[in-house]
Amino acid sequence: MDYKKVIQTTEKFVKEIHKKEFSGHDFAHIERVRKMALEIGAQEQADLFIVEMAALLHDTVDEKLFDKEMAWSRLNDFYLTIQLPVAQQDAINHILQYMSFNGGKNAGKLKSLEGKVVQDADRLDALGAIGIARTFMFAGKFGEAMYDPNIPVRTDLSDYRTPSTAINHFYEKLFKLIDLMNTETGRAMAQQRNIYMKAFIAQFMAEWG
Ligand code: ADP
Ligand code: NI
Repeated sequence: MDYKKVIQTTEKFVKEIHKKEFSGHDFAHIERVRKMALEIGAQEQADLFIVEMAALLHDTVDEKLFDKEMAWSRLNDFYLTIQLPVAQQDAINHILQYMSFNGGKNAGKLKSLEGKVVQDADRLDALGAIGIARTFMFAGKFGEAMYDPNIPVRTDLSDYRTPSTAINHFYEKLFKLIDLMNTETGRAMAQQRNIYMKAFIAQFMAEWG
């Protein structure tokens, strides 16, 4: 298999899928996750082909963005066109299936080192200045207020359609991520981003008054 060619073809496929994406899951997000995943993966001695493929494909089957059945069948058709061996399809699919936070319901299900690496990279992009910006893009796109003291923080996230706010999302998910990082490399990178988010929330609340 010509690995370089497969990666290039996958990049094109993914770019097309995320073209009209304005909820913080655009192709720039995919590129950042890819870069960070390769960095962490090299440190952790993971299989970098699986890491790069899963990073590229990770949001093409996100149920918040795409119809589940359509997305998986689109992915399987793509595997056929690039003639990806089944063992590698399985390794990638395992990651795509379990890497989402999913209200905490996927905890412990991601088994492979490559999955842990890609999940850490995706989580890093949910943190820090970029994580903050993405949260407000998402809230705007899906009709959430940026803040409303009368809307309580959700404890059960199983129905993501329950109304919430961008600020609530920090308590529902973002501040939990630091303790859920899989790799030492990822955890170290997450520290500073977490501190930055805490300062942001403190400033936001001070200005809100
Ligand atoms: P995962 O890949 O772990 O499922 P998501 O795709 O749910 O992560 O979230 C990616 C980013 O989208 C979050 O880090 C956040 O910035 C934004 N986001 C997701 N859900 C919400 C929400 N309910 N309110 C605001 N932002 C959200
Ligand atoms: Ni993502």
